[in-house]
Amino acid sequence: MEEKLEKIVSLAKRRGFIYPGSEIYGGLAGTWDYGPLGAELLYNIKETWWKKFVSGRDDMYGLASSIMMPEAVWAASGHLEHFVDPLEDEKFNTMFKSKAGALKGETATVYLRPELAQGMFVNFKNIVDSYHPKIPFGIAQIGRCFRNEISPRDFLFRVREFDLMEFEYFVREKDWEKYFEYWKKEMWDWIKEIGIDKKKVHELEVPKDELAHYSKRTIDFEYDFPFGRKELYGLAYRTDHDLKNHKLDYYDEEIKEKFIPHVIEPTFGAGRTVLALLCGAYEEDEMGGEKRIVLKLKPQIAPVKVAVFPLLANKENLIVKAKQVYEILKPEMSAAWDDNGNIGKRYRRQDEIGTPWCVTIDFETLENDTVTIRDRDIGKQERLDIKKIICYIKDRSK
Ligand code: GAP
Repeated sequence: MEEKLEKIVSLAKRRGFIYPGSEIYGGLAGTWDYGPLGAELLYNIKETWWKKFVSGRDDMYGLASSIMMPEAVWAASGHLEHFVDPLEDEKFNTMFKSKAGALKGETATVYLRPELAQGMFVNFKNIVDSYHPKIPFGIAQIGRCFRNEISPRDFLFRVREFDLMEFEYFVREKDWEKYFEYWKKEMWDWIKEIGIDKKKVHELEVPKDELAHYSKRTIDFEYDFPFGRKELYGLAYRTDHDLKNHKLDYYDEEIKEKFIPHVIEPTFGAGRTVLALLCGAYEEDEMGGEKRIVLKLKPQIAPVKVAVFPLLANKENLIVKAKQVYEILKPEMSAAWDDNGNIGKRYRRQDEIGTPWCVTIDFETLENDTVTIRDRDIGKQERLDIKKIICYIKDRSK
């Protein structure tokens, strides 16, 4: 494994971001379990995405559909025929197949979804009937997908079970190019907002003969991972392929016209987002003459926003005051308590997990209710009134 990736995998395990799946039983290839810090990071990514693309907009409808779907869905979508690994001669279908139900004659063949999109398509009529949305509008969801990848590899990059963040945006056929450009711009905007280094992201126009069976045009957003330039996200023009095959259409009440909407689909792998962020944020540098590992994650997504320390771990009055500060911060943001080892060691521990701020309670705190707040990236410390800590951090985490 590439050296930098090896360091990230090891840090992720040591500090509780990501563990190999089912490890005490020898592991299961292509599965990874998110520990407390990884789960927090993943949650922050999903929340930012949901706010930007769903709750923050008037034209997007959120959904949480079932993972299991019957064979008929995948026959209509074309996945039964086309969702195969092209490297294999025997056309290996990478969907996980199972049976739902126990009684003979009452079981149904089901597949674990390999993409979220079909959930949005099969609920298209439900959303239209409930909300009467005007075209253009979108249906979005975040959820687990499953692919029986032949050779899972490169940590979170190619796994058999992963979270996707995806939406289908329904437009009139004549407008598809306009909205394709619009969503491309929005995807770049997301990349910036979440803190992925734009210089490491490159657009790739997918050649016609490599397009997925449903796509007429796809752009991949590729990222310079330590193991090479590989797909991070995708933007596809799915035409009317899916709605047509599910025999669905749309009636425009204003102009009294029935038609099949066309679809623009931006798709974002959540695990690949975590991986790109960890790869971009990981640095080894020196601060105050000491070597350190630091994760320069944006405060908005950092799993711990602030760590609280009593200057000395054996002074009762400092500990009592520090606990009070910790209790004030904890309900407002993800906060950590650390009174183990000297202050330098505590800073190093927090730097390594990307905590943007460390608050220290010292003897001056006992006199005037001020603390020091230290910045992860530059190491600078400021004195701040206890009452101002929450605003200080929230303002800088937006
Ligand atoms: N609905 C469109 C769709 O599923 P895709 O390019 O096959 O498109 C979407 O997958 C995204 O899912 C990719 O851009 C990538 O971020 C992520 N992804 C795909 N396969 C993956 C795997 N085996 N492991 C981790 N992430 C994966």
